[in-house]
Amino acid sequence: MEQRKGSELAWDGRRGNAWVDLQPMLDRLFFPLEQILADAAVTQSPRNVLDVGCGTGATTLAIARRLAPLGTCCGVDISEAMLDHARHRAMAESAKNARFLAGDAQRYRFETGSFDAVVSRFGVMFFDDPEAAFANIGNAVAPGGRLTSLVWRSREENPFMTAAERAAAPLLGWGAPVDPHEPGQFAWSDPDRVARLLRAAGWHSVDVVSLDVRCRMTEADLHRYARCLGPVGMILPSLESSLRDRVLAVLDAAFVEFLIDGAVQFDAACWMVSAQAGSRPC
Ligand SMILES: C[S@@+](CC[C@H](N)C(=O)[O-])C[C@H]1O[C@@H](n2cnc3c(N)ncnc32)[C@H](O)[C@@H]1O
Repeated sequence: MEQRKGSELAWDGRRGNAWVDLQPMLDRLFFPLEQILADAAVTQSPRNVLDVGCGTGATTLAIARRLAPLGTCCGVDISEAMLDHARHRAMAESAKNARFLAGDAQRYRFETGSFDAVVSRFGVMFFDDPEAAFANIGNAVAPGGRLTSLVWRSREENPFMTAAERAAAPLLGWGAPVDPHEPGQFAWSDPDRVARLLRAAGWHSVDVVSLDVRCRMTEADLHRYARCLGPVGMILPSLESSLRDRVLAVLDAAFVEFLIDGAVQFDAACWMVSAQAGSRPC
């Protein structure tokens, strides 16, 4: 259990490097979600957008492109490896209105009111104190600024995301996850809790809407995805070789149900969380 939990929270080292190595594939996989988020983020023509848990920068850059030349998008992340990669991408495409900050968004001292919108694609579920994190992020946003965030619904509604873990758990001696709210991929799966914690952190007009988005990858990409990412990907290199072979054997079988018409396909079961910063207008 500890191995799984540790791998959920560490974002440098093996995990961050895997996200960097697989960045083109992950960007293709989650491109439909990037588009949804970027469309939503720019509807009110914000000037300065904050992208929380920006990772290797796909959504920051997508929003910066749409807001150029007047608006900017700033990604914040705790992973140096992922941020380095994001900065190189911004340089490569001469995206002068994209910038990246290294820091824990729960504690980082943002300039008060310096953003007028906040976005995140799967970057807000890892805070040890989500209410404190969203109070801190809210302070960085001018009153009326909008939050738009995509988070995962439950494990049960996302069988693709948990396929490797379910298949390997018996071999690795992993039990069922105990606390569904502990920081990690599915920590924001309960919409009532999400709404409660955002209100408690000072946000209003909270809306949590269900969204199912078809995502696709090639079979070759799946091979790398299953072996390099998630709790199973993190633990594989440290396994003794015969156990590793047995885990690899069950991994391939675990994803067969997602092979449709020659490609890997699944629906990402998400919540689109939106809210407004500052006190509610009278
Ligand atoms: C699932 S990845 C998503 C990355 C990116 N948003 C994307 O969609 O490609 C989660 C990201 O959140 C970042 N993260 C986790 N905890 C964080 C924190 N406390 N403050 C800032 N970023 C954090 C991780 O480093 C990682 O880049």
